[in-house]
Amino acid sequence: MTQIDRQRLAGLLTREQDTYRAEHPRSLELHRSADHLFGRVPMTWMSMWAGGFPIAHESAHGNTIVDVDGHSYIDFALGDTGAMAGHSPAATVRAVTERIGGRGGITTMLPTEDAEWVGAELTRRFGLPYWSFTLTATDANRWGVRLARLITRRPKLLVFSYCYHGTLDESFIVIGPDGLPASRPGNVAPAVDPTVTSRVAQWNDLASVERELAHGDVAAILTEPALTNIGIVLPDPGFLAGLRELATKYGALLMIDETHTISAGPGGMTARDSLRPDIFVIGKSLGGGIPCGAYGLTAEVADQVHARTAAGDADIVDVGGVGGTLAGNALSLAAMRATLGEVLTADAFEAMIALATRFTEEAQLVLDKADMPWSISQLGARAEYRFTWPAPRNGNESAAAADDQLDEYMHLYTLNRGVLMTPFHNMALMCPASTVADVDRHTEVFGAAVSELISA
Ligand SMILES: Cc1ncc(COP(=O)(O)O)c(C=O)c1O
Repeated sequence: MTQIDRQRLAGLLTREQDTYRAEHPRSLELHRSADHLFGRVPMTWMSMWAGGFPIAHESAHGNTIVDVDGHSYIDFALGDTGAMAGHSPAATVRAVTERIGGRGGITTMLPTEDAEWVGAELTRRFGLPYWSFTLTATDANRWGVRLARLITRRPKLLVFSYCYHGTLDESFIVIGPDGLPASRPGNVAPAVDPTVTSRVAQWNDLASVERELAHGDVAAILTEPALTNIGIVLPDPGFLAGLRELATKYGALLMIDETHTISAGPGGMTARDSLRPDIFVIGKSLGGGIPCGAYGLTAEVADQVHARTAAGDADIVDVGGVGGTLAGNALSLAAMRATLGEVLTADAFEAMIALATRFTEEAQLVLDKADMPWSISQLGARAEYRFTWPAPRNGNESAAAADDQLDEYMHLYTLNRGVLMTPFHNMALMCPASTVADVDRHTEVFGAAVSELISA
């Protein structure tokens, strides 16, 4: 298989960095003059974009972003799934405009008619009968975990090594190089070491899950149905069914977070693969870019929560630790109704998945032709390449394949040629506005990036 010549890579990277700087003077100037922003960006993660400073965008519609220097990009990052419906989708814009400027009332701490419509739609898609809304997927996870602890009377959360579920404290645990649980590298000053609050298992390893559950102190297993935040790591056949069985056997709840894996279809992997979560979490995409998230509960879980609150053990209607002032606001619900009802429809998913399949097949052909030791995984409307082959089977294997230099080269190479990939990953997501021509342009640029890397 082809070996990467590191010296050659370093030279190509310098060339791409120079081009990036030269072609984005206005973005650079905005970054340099952002004296009042912590890290010179509105949110510290935006420093993750390749090139030393992010492009500042002027406008974004569908899957096209135009930056302040006048460059136009095919956007496969789509706000790392926040803009899976495309940027400013017409139906969502209409609904939020009507809510804000027509009927009025952005946030009132009161229900609107949209709320029950969205709850019923989430039930139709994912199966769970009861829903509550948040502003982020992180909050949906946080509140779901509290409810799981409340009804099981158990303290711990079980997660998978190198998972990501937002800034949920209990999830920042990994299996360390010595095989023992450890706080995830970079975890910002946890109040309590996550090895106290959590247990960690290895993805695709049911024996490791059972070993942890056997302690009898796990309230819930929290997982994505495919890992998507350390590359895409798909479940082996039978793994998810095994999780369900083990959760039931050991009296823990199964919490499925489909914030990213909704790419699998209109009902996510839960509908596609007949999963049976006790608590379901989603965020990011639902509101077409307007902040929102949701958690769903089975009837059994909802009944048990009500029994505990009726007994005075916990408070979910005041300051008991579940809820938020702007959560479930009228604007978010108007956005979710329009986005789910008119944009992220079953037909849209069919087209988006077909495009991601084309993306994956074409990128695979490039890799085969170049004999590159990389892998590409697809999950419905998203696909991601990873600098290792064969595709990793768990979070630790995938983390070990990280390559910052290659990452920056690939991101800058594509960006300099009008193709935006997700900064945190080599991920490409399709939205309803994505086209065959966009996918083929990626193939062309990706092929050129690979061929420059390997040609002598
Ligand atoms: C699976 C999953 N859950 C939750 C989150 C958190 O989403 P947010 O940052 O919108 O709270 C993310 C973010 O990437 C995620 O990938």
